[in-house]
Amino acid sequence: MAQMHMANAFDPESAPEVPARTAELLTRREAVLSASYRLFYREPVEVVRAEGAWLYDSAGRPHLDMYNNVPAIGHSHPAVTEAVTRQLGRLNTHTRYLTEGILDYSEALLETFPAALDQVTYACSGSEAVDLAVRMARFATGREGIIISAHAYHGTTALAASLSPSLGVNNSVAEAVATVDMRPGMDVETLAAKVRSAAVDLEARGHGVAAVIFDSIFSSDGVLPDPVGGLAAAADVARAFGGCVIADEVQPGFGRTGTMWGFSRHGVEPDLVVLGKPMGNGMPISAVVSRREISDAFGASVRYFNTFGGSPVCIAAAQGVLDVITASLLPRHAEQLGQVLADGLAVRAGHTALLQDVRAAGLFVGVDTPGADTAAAIVNGLRERRVLISASGPGADVLKIRPPLVFDEAEAEVFFAALDDTLEDLEPS
Ligand SMILES: Cc1ncc(COP(=O)(O)O)c(C=O)c1O
Repeated sequence: MAQMHMANAFDPESAPEVPARTAELLTRREAVLSASYRLFYREPVEVVRAEGAWLYDSAGRPHLDMYNNVPAIGHSHPAVTEAVTRQLGRLNTHTRYLTEGILDYSEALLETFPAALDQVTYACSGSEAVDLAVRMARFATGREGIIISAHAYHGTTALAASLSPSLGVNNSVAEAVATVDMRPGMDVETLAAKVRSAAVDLEARGHGVAAVIFDSIFSSDGVLPDPVGGLAAAADVARAFGGCVIADEVQPGFGRTGTMWGFSRHGVEPDLVVLGKPMGNGMPISAVVSRREISDAFGASVRYFNTFGGSPVCIAAAQGVLDVITASLLPRHAEQLGQVLADGLAVRAGHTALLQDVRAAGLFVGVDTPGADTAAAIVNGLRERRVLISASGPGADVLKIRPPLVFDEAEAEVFFAALDDTLEDLEPS
């Protein structure tokens, strides 16, 4: 588990005494679920229902969800529940029939993108969409090499996992890959120089550059909203080597970082954009948005049919999500509430050595701690107080705070009270 960088994960070896109900579920889980699964927290939480930013356990106790970027518009949102229920009772097929909902949604979705990004292909998971975007880039360029960040996570298919060094040393990274080591505080020129070295390396090894793919918030690299403009500089370098630019918006997309798309913070227009997680508020839908020439070339030569990708029910969910994000101005709300969180955390970081650098873009917040043990202690301390966050980064020492976009000021107060109590416990004054 150490190389999985999940220091805050449940570990049966060092687990505390857990309630009988939890113990029973753990035993049943261990009996049937494969060994790949990990549970959050020293004492796992059983959840039975959810609403807004709150998860409720089997005893009806509320837990403040500050980690879940999937239910962006809030857990169990009626806009999604009703749209899905209505559609499920009427028709659920696939993209080989004519249906109008997918056209309405695609038109509305593409409106939120720069004009040149005017094509969309649907899949079910972020991993599938990453996989497809990389295939398209390789097809368009006739090259194999991919530039990724050194602690990237891009998903679970064989291809996406081979672009995911954060899965640890036992997960093999593709041969035609070069990595860029991301560091907090890095400037644009340094990032561009690192991307150039990666491109030169790929050319020297005979792969050439097919694409650079970056998560525009660098979540698994430790939450790095800066340097703003870094992705534009990286894109210039990749294009100078003939490569495509892929923005992985699975984490930052749909308003989380204060703008609809994380790449816009960097002033870059990608060639391909990968969407996922919040797109369906929990329904399995993802997409690749592309420049027409790239997906045309691929599509004319290679068929792509994804049985469940873009099904009417998932499209209905996605439409509900997009409508709420747009009508409620959630990107702006994310920016405002993100500032509340960042300010409150920065004040506390001034008073305790347990919290260090605070980095935020909208409701995507990372806080450095002195090490993985501290981060795990804070995460588990908050969990005991029924506030749920997690940790990430190469050293698992960065608190990762990422509530649903509907998170409000009263909930921020609940978080700060639990955090103050946790910090006081760990470092009594
Ligand atoms: C940046 C990024 N890309 C891709 C994925 C893969 O998405 P999925 O789990 O939906 O396959 C993830 C999932 O965490 C992710 O964080």
